[in-house]
Amino acid sequence: MKRFVTVLLAVAVGWLWATAPLAQEDMETVPNDAFTSPQRPPAVFVHDAHNEAAGIDECNRCHHVYREGQLVPDESSEDYRCSDCHAETAADDGMPALMGAFHGNCKQCHLELENGPVMCGECHQRP
Ligand code: HEC
Ligand code: HEC
Ligand code: HEC
Ligand code: HEC
Repeated sequence: MKRFVTVLLAVAVGWLWATAPLAQEDMETVPNDAFTSPQRPPAVFVHDAHNEAAGIDECNRCHHVYREGQLVPDESSEDYRCSDCHAETAADDGMPALMGAFHGNCKQCHLELENGPVMCGECHQRP
């Protein structure tokens, strides 16, 4: 009986481990699993360290919420993946498709601030 319980426990812990979402403090690259067949290595992004070095205080600078086409200043969507709202292929509703959403967020800010990588291989680094 004791052995059975131990095995059950090991299975339960293993299951939790395998299905637990990646916490942002452990994130080192932006996951590319929402793309059907990724062409590039996932982009380097050490979530918390990046945001601290870049001095970004507002989570919704990236995890934004729009309502009726307007950005909602005090809300954030960090419980959602970007891909929950941005589809892989563009629709004709003006919503950026997923790759464009990432590039429009990451690369655009680096260009505007003239700080942070803008070359493909600087973000999509071969491991
Ligand atoms: C500032 C960082 C950054 C730069 C610079 C950048 N990307 Fe990306 N790119 C991303 C992120 C983040 C994603 C989302 C998925 C991931 O992590 O790869 C992405 C996704 C993609 C995807 C879709 C997923 C895939 O692997 O097929 C392609 C293709 C891509 N980028 C190509 C490029 C090319 C080509 C360039 C240079 C012209 C480039 N990227 C420059 C950050 C960047
Ligand atoms: C510079 C952009 C940026 C900022 C600022 C930012 N995040 Fe994120 N965060 C991301 C990206 C990109 C992902 C990956 C999203 C995806 O996989 O679709 C992510 C993922 C997450 C996740 C989900 C982890 C997972 O397993 O999917 C959480 C939770 C999160 N962020 C919380 C926060 C909180 C809290 C803040 C503010 C303290 C914050 N983020 C600020 C870009 C940012
Ligand atoms: C809850 C839904 C939702 C989530 C989650 C979401 N977006 Fe968006 N995003 C939108 C909507 C709606 C628009 C506005 C389209 C329009 O202009 O009408 C938008 C616009 C954008 C734009 C263009 C305008 C701008 O603000 O620069 C970029 C870039 C973008 N999203 C990137 C991202 C990234 C990167 C993530 C994940 C970190 C993300 N989005 C998560 C709904 C979402
Ligand atoms: C609001 C502006 C902003 C956004 C959005 C942003 N970055 Fe950055 N990023 C910066 C700044 C500023 C730096 C330089 C920070 C420093 O001085 O170290 C930087 C540096 C980097 C670096 C090099 C340093 C490091 O942390 O390895 C990488 C890689 C990077 N960003 C990837 C990304 C990716 C991927 C995204 C989108 C998921 C993103 N950034 C979104 C502002 C931004």
